[in-house]
Amino acid sequence: MSRFAPLQNDTFLRALMRQPTDYTPLWLMRQAGRYLPEYRAVRKQAGSFMGLATNPDLATEVTLQPVTRFGLDAAILFSDILTVPDAMGLGLQFIEGEGPKFAHPLRDERAVLELRVPAMDKLQYVFDAVTQIRTELDGKVPLIGFAGSPWTLACYMVEGGGSRDHLEVKRMMYSRPELMHHILEINAAAVAAYLNAQIEAGAQAVMLFDSWGGALADGHYHRFSLHYMRSVIRRLHRSHDGEVVPCIVFTKGGGMWLEQLADSGADAVGLDWTVDLGQARLRTGGRVALQGNLDPAALFASPAQIRAEAERALYSYGAGGNGYDGHVFNLGHGISQFTPPEAVAVLVDAVHDLSRVLRKT
Ligand code: CP3
Repeated sequence: MSRFAPLQNDTFLRALMRQPTDYTPLWLMRQAGRYLPEYRAVRKQAGSFMGLATNPDLATEVTLQPVTRFGLDAAILFSDILTVPDAMGLGLQFIEGEGPKFAHPLRDERAVLELRVPAMDKLQYVFDAVTQIRTELDGKVPLIGFAGSPWTLACYMVEGGGSRDHLEVKRMMYSRPELMHHILEINAAAVAAYLNAQIEAGAQAVMLFDSWGGALADGHYHRFSLHYMRSVIRRLHRSHDGEVVPCIVFTKGGGMWLEQLADSGADAVGLDWTVDLGQARLRTGGRVALQGNLDPAALFASPAQIRAEAERALYSYGAGGNGYDGHVFNLGHGISQFTPPEAVAVLVDAVHDLSRVLRKT
């Protein structure tokens, strides 16, 4: 017996498993965030991003905000990919207007060799939030857990924060590949344990965010990012409480490597807006579900244009195969903080309505 309420809307999970659905489900990367006034109010109350993420009551509140406001088909845990390196002792801070910074980045051999898989109890606040969110969702829609890919985490851990050219992490990759592989091995073990603990705590699907895989050269992508994502996926508990727990993998800028991503062991592949959904479907031969891929900037257009863009994406997926199942509608990357919330409402209704009509034609 599950300790949680039965799921009322399993459209998202069914789409990930490429099963028939009445309509195309959608959620949006970074759906809980600064574009929502109700988020900004709670964020202010918490004082800082980490103050919010480490408080399960507040993290639950902001996770539910977009689901309640828009009627999205999944909730995603409110947290950050950088909680894992923080638990490794790198000292995470979010500096207003500057983004994430680590007090102790990995810049020399000694720091790399001292790196360890963190004790999962350092991340208990995340698992507590997962259980509380799942409880308060009360079976309305499924809850997605997530983590950063081993490579994407390494980018922040070596750079010490965001970077445009990734010269430090690439310098290490080219000049000391064995040190880079050492970091990636540890990250893969940590991410697998972290996602499995989220699944234990109540996450019903998990997603790996490989935001910087697309910064790698061909060949290096396979050795330094994809290889370690496969290693994470192999170790995941793919069912819990008698339910399948699907896994989504998303390499931003990874359109070139779709076939290999489809063979990563994941159930679904996330796509950014550089990829045509129908072509992606043909290239992956129906082996995986596809998630994506509206340009987040499309939400700055008029309602009529947003509806046209939603329709275009739904059609293009349909053109790549038989019917519209196996597609989870999403943006191609995180929603901008400047997005008008009304635009999201237009998108949600357009995707829900049009995808029902398309299934009947
Ligand atoms: O999708 C969701 O709603 C769940 C929450 C979520 C956050 N971060 C909250 C957040 C998720 C899934 C992430 C993932 C994440 N975090 C990624 C991978 C996805 C991607 O965008 O490529 C990355 C690279 C990070 C690292 C990170 N966190 C950066 C670079 C920043 C600063 C940039 C920015 O937008 O300010 C963050 C901060 C962050 N994480 C915010 C939110 C809502 C904004 C900070 C705030 O509210 O003060």
